[in-house]
Amino acid sequence: MSISVTHNYTDQPEPEFSAEKLLEVQRFISMYPEGKQKSALMRILHLAEEEFGGWLSVPTMNYVARLLNIQPIEVYEVATFYTMFNIEKPGKVVLEVCRTGPCMLVGSDQIIEYIENKLDIKVGQTSADGMFTLKTAECLGACGYGPMLQCGKHYHEHLTPAKVDELLDTLRKEHSEK
Ligand code: FES
Repeated sequence: MSISVTHNYTDQPEPEFSAEKLLEVQRFISMYPEGKQKSALMRILHLAEEEFGGWLSVPTMNYVARLLNIQPIEVYEVATFYTMFNIEKPGKVVLEVCRTGPCMLVGSDQIIEYIENKLDIKVGQTSADGMFTLKTAECLGACGYGPMLQCGKHYHEHLTPAKVDELLDTLRKEHSEK
């Protein structure tokens, strides 16, 4: 398995958790039996994403590997497998549209295409103003409410082009002030 590092800022120094966050890391690790510290990887990756700018650079993943005493490749494999992790620096707002069966049956593909055209990007890209990153996700557990997307901790359901317009306007206003 390889990871594209072309835009992944490998030349940046490894980040470091604060003492407080390191305690949290130790707490996660201690939840698993001796020798199974790798089981804490997902939780630590979420923490690293939160702490280090909303994404996992190669230096960040290397740092996590060191904390867990595992090979960096083991971290890359997990970080690149799950769509909820960002391995490229995202825009201010990440839109994750579900494209699993039930959402597809009610039009998630059309919603994805609509957002792509509206923002002039493709899935996996960030809009020119750095505001929106568009991703797709596997079932997010709201199958009866499709087509749906997740943005941060919020679900937006029964999407239509008009609802997407409204959502993008609201998000743009909220995040342009930050
Ligand atoms: S199929 Fe989209 S939320 Fe389950």
